[in-house]
Amino acid sequence: MAFNIGSGLEGKSVVVTGGSGGIGREVCLAFAAAGSRVAVVDVDQTRVDALVAEMEGGPHLAIAHDLRPVSGHAELIAKVVGAFGRLDVLVQTAAVLIRRASVFDVSEADWDIQHDVNLKASFFLCQAVARTMKEQGTGGRIINFTSQGWMSGGFGGSVAYAATKGGIVSMTRGLARSLAKDKITVNAVSPGAADTAMMRSGMDDAALAGTIAQIPLGYMAAPSELAGSVLFLASNHASYITGATINVSGGWLMY
Ligand SMILES: NC(=O)c1ccc[n+]([C@@H]2O[C@H](COP(=O)([O-])OP(=O)(O)OC[C@H]3O[C@@H](n4cnc5c(N)ncnc54)[C@H](O)[C@@H]3O)[C@@H](O)[C@H]2O)c1
Repeated sequence: MAFNIGSGLEGKSVVVTGGSGGIGREVCLAFAAAGSRVAVVDVDQTRVDALVAEMEGGPHLAIAHDLRPVSGHAELIAKVVGAFGRLDVLVQTAAVLIRRASVFDVSEADWDIQHDVNLKASFFLCQAVARTMKEQGTGGRIINFTSQGWMSGGFGGSVAYAATKGGIVSMTRGLARSLAKDKITVNAVSPGAADTAMMRSGMDDAALAGTIAQIPLGYMAAPSELAGSVLFLASNHASYITGATINVSGGWLMY
């Protein structure tokens, strides 16, 4: 079979959660540039509208939606399918990080919000999207976001967050096994440090410099440097990859 250099992303229907966040917006812009139709999902209507106005191609969709109530997921998917006619790719970047200097300062509310957004909402959105993909009968791609914390246990006061990201890796592997028969691949992207509001939150300049000093490539990733792995996993080139966690940490972790 001759190798086809094309990505196959033209005309695909893509949902990106956390779409107006630091990494999410670069993922949305990249899919739009590749010719996909993108539903940008995040909490603030003004920000999703502003991003869609910047994106090439389309028409795209700007959806303000809080992903925590899982009962709202079916309606969210219905909006996308109503507008685009189908759903081919789900990318989940939405997440919350709450740093606490000491594990003794982590409250139940800290634990709950990080688990509700990062893990619970992610699982149930995978479930709802996979149901639609299965009905369509033509497979699909799910790309979840974990973090170096899944493996390291988290730096900078992020133990509870790291626990959610460990859950993302296990969940991604389990879903990959379960959904393979429906030709739905499920993979994860694992950033190290990318220069976004989340990465900088709760870190002073000295702590950031200490982090960067551990990264062999010597700098925090630009958020756009995470988009390539996502597009790859959604493309024709990744047709035989499922259950993988792609380490995009500039060498901070090596596995
Ligand atoms: N930036 C990094 O260094 C880094 C490192 C490791 C992992 N990650 C992961 O990469 C992904 C993107 O991170 P980022 O740095 O772009 O963060 P970010 O804070 O810039 O973006 C996250 C987005 O998620 C949205 N969001 C939060 N709660 C939501 C909810 N209930 N419903 C809908 N949207 C919600 C936020 O509004 C925000 O726009 C996250 O999963 C994060 O855990 C980032």
